Amino acid sequence: MSSLHEQIQQYEAEITAFTPIDATELENFRIRFLGTKGIVKQLSTEMKNVPPEQRKEAGMLLNSFKQLAEGKYDAHKDMQQAGASKGPSVDITLPGTPLPTGTRHPLRIVENQIVSIFEKIGFSVATGPEIEDDWHNFTSLNMPEHHPARDMQDTFYVSQNPDWVLRTHTSSTQARVMENQQPPIRVICPGRVYRNETISARAHCFFHQCEGLYIDKDVSFADLKQTLYYFVTEMFGEDTKVRFRPSYFPFTEPSAEMDISCTVCGGSGCSLCKHTGWVEILGCGMVHPNMLRNFNIDPEVYTGYAFGLGVERITQIKYQVNDLRLYSQNDVRFLRQFQSL
Ligand code: DAH
Repeated sequence: MSSLHEQIQQYEAEITAFTPIDATELENFRIRFLGTKGIVKQLSTEMKNVPPEQRKEAGMLLNSFKQLAEGKYDAHKDMQQAGASKGPSVDITLPGTPLPTGTRHPLRIVENQIVSIFEKIGFSVATGPEIEDDWHNFTSLNMPEHHPARDMQDTFYVSQNPDWVLRTHTSSTQARVMENQQPPIRVICPGRVYRNETISARAHCFFHQCEGLYIDKDVSFADLKQTLYYFVTEMFGEDTKVRFRPSYFPFTEPSAEMDISCTVCGGSGCSLCKHTGWVEILGCGMVHPNMLRNFNIDPEVYTGYAFGLGVERITQIKYQVNDLRLYSQNDVRFLRQFQSL
């Protein structure tokens, strides 16, 4: 009896581990275990050697062994039949067909780079609506009705409501942040803006900006310069130089525009820098006291700086994109060039 028991245990292990690779192997399995001269048959002929008092137990053992072998065989037979009925069998070892994946848009790549550079020094992201009211886009930014500075930007008005515009700059988000938050304020506001311009290689009716705003006690123009210098070296490399030119924006005083040394020709002159060695990348300045007052922030206590940069401009300089229309034409030959970024 013990030898029958041991034999069955051994065969059981073999059966459990068995996985046929094809129909021939399965058939061999059937012949070996369940055939007319198979192991199950052989073992049942040995039953006569088992002492009568152990026969009942041995019979049960043998029976469950037979069921195990049959179960294994039937399961694999079913699987093979199911596979065969599906037509030609599938070679599961073949590599899969790659799914065509999209790529990130170059403007989104650059926007992410800009945001993460400022996040490293404690700025957080704020966003605002693209359909904006007059107060947030103009009036609160020290541009009351009939102010000539409104003509600096060609505005799209929304026909349903004379008070609504498509925002002409992300400075409107700056206004919304000041409306909802008391200093210290340190935000970066990326987003799409609209202007009524004829579409060409150099102008478009929509584009993207990133606004920066920092308001606290004792914020000075030196802080503004240092922050922007940090941004430029992170974005374009340590050798990049900056220069500030006095300018005018109604919402900042003093105001400046910032140029960087041309990263394409290194300053020797090329078509990007129009042979000047410098390219303009942003407008900036110290937040105008009137603007602080508009949002109940006391200009005697707080000062701040702001800046606004064009994402297309940064992308153009960084990746030498020379036609603004490429960004919205959805030509995959253009978009795929940014696949690795
Ligand atoms: N809003 C300006 C524009 O669209 C850019 C700008 C200039 C933003 C100076 C600022 C700033 O925050 O301080 O042309």
